Amino acid sequence: MKRVNIYTPFRAEIKEIEKKTADVNLYRIALPKRIKYSPGQFFMVSVWGAGEVPISITSHSAFSDGLELCVRKAGFVTSLIYNAEEGTDIWLRGPYGNGFPLDIAGNSDIVLIAGGIGMAPLRPLIYEFTNRNKKYGNVKLVYGSKYPDDVIFRDEIEVYKQMGAKVIVSVDRKNGEWDGNVGFVTDFLGSIKADMVSAVAYVCGPEIMIKNVTRDLSLMGMPHEKIITTLEAHMKCGVGKCGHCYAGCKYICTDGPVFSYKEIREYQLMQAWEDNK
Ligand SMILES: Cc1cc2nc3c(=O)[nH]c(=O)nc-3n(C[C@H](O)[C@H](O)[C@H](O)COP(=O)(O)OP(=O)(O)OC[C@H]3O[C@@H](n4cnc5c(N)ncnc54)[C@H](O)[C@@H]3O)c2cc1C
Ligand code: FES
Repeated sequence: MKRVNIYTPFRAEIKEIEKKTADVNLYRIALPKRIKYSPGQFFMVSVWGAGEVPISITSHSAFSDGLELCVRKAGFVTSLIYNAEEGTDIWLRGPYGNGFPLDIAGNSDIVLIAGGIGMAPLRPLIYEFTNRNKKYGNVKLVYGSKYPDDVIFRDEIEVYKQMGAKVIVSVDRKNGEWDGNVGFVTDFLGSIKADMVSAVAYVCGPEIMIKNVTRDLSLMGMPHEKIITTLEAHMKCGVGKCGHCYAGCKYICTDGPVFSYKEIREYQLMQAWEDNK
């Protein structure tokens, strides 16, 4: 396969589509060759003639031959991806971005905090950290969604538990037959049984959730360099050329999208978080 330049995508095939919620699908994609990627990285996904969007990787290359992407119908391009059918082509560039730091986890407890579609990039971390061949600490997941019908990976919760993770699932507002937790993820941080001073946290979700969770973890005594999150920005090139994603003094696409809370504060990556003291 000959690549012409860095902006030339390669063709891949959508093998399987799994409907997860009313506006989220999981795509199992066959790659033209085996590609190594890491949790926290993303691909630029394009629909020919329509546009290109950054989408996080939700599979783990050590446990999957292909690639899994989880896409929420948000606007023009993601709606076209949402309406794509099994067997059709999709165009990809990547993997891009730095990915989650794994070494800092050591054998400390690992706290994963996900909100909505933010569960997608954290999903491969569950596979990584519950892998018994590696000497990671205990894994705790707090996973929040707006409504019960929005819990994207609801069918996998039992699997995560069998893999050894302690899981707290919550919804902001309940309806139907939901008899589980109700509240924002921040309401359940106190229920995590872990030594928060030595633990490492990986956080992903809507910006307001990340802002509040990082602040609360900090107040619980977690060192800022051990609070890891992934930031969203409007992206065009994905490779540090166009400047669309520039924040503070960093390119979110190449320096990130994963940053520690320490870096976010130090480089003022999120101006709107200035009240996070
Ligand atoms: C590193 C990264 C990883 C991402 N991973 C995923 C993922 O795994 N799954 C997923 O469903 N989405 C993910 N997103 C968000 C996704 O890229 C946007 O939803 C998409 O670009 C919207 O494009 P569109 O053409 O469908 O919408 P548009 O028609 O362009 O816009 C629709 C709405 O979405 C907003 N929007 C556009 N781009 C972004 C963006 N980058 N971030 C936030 N809001 C945006 C617009 O302001 C507008 O309100 C990720 C974004 C980034 C930066
Ligand atoms: S998206 Fe172009 S520089 Fe980051």
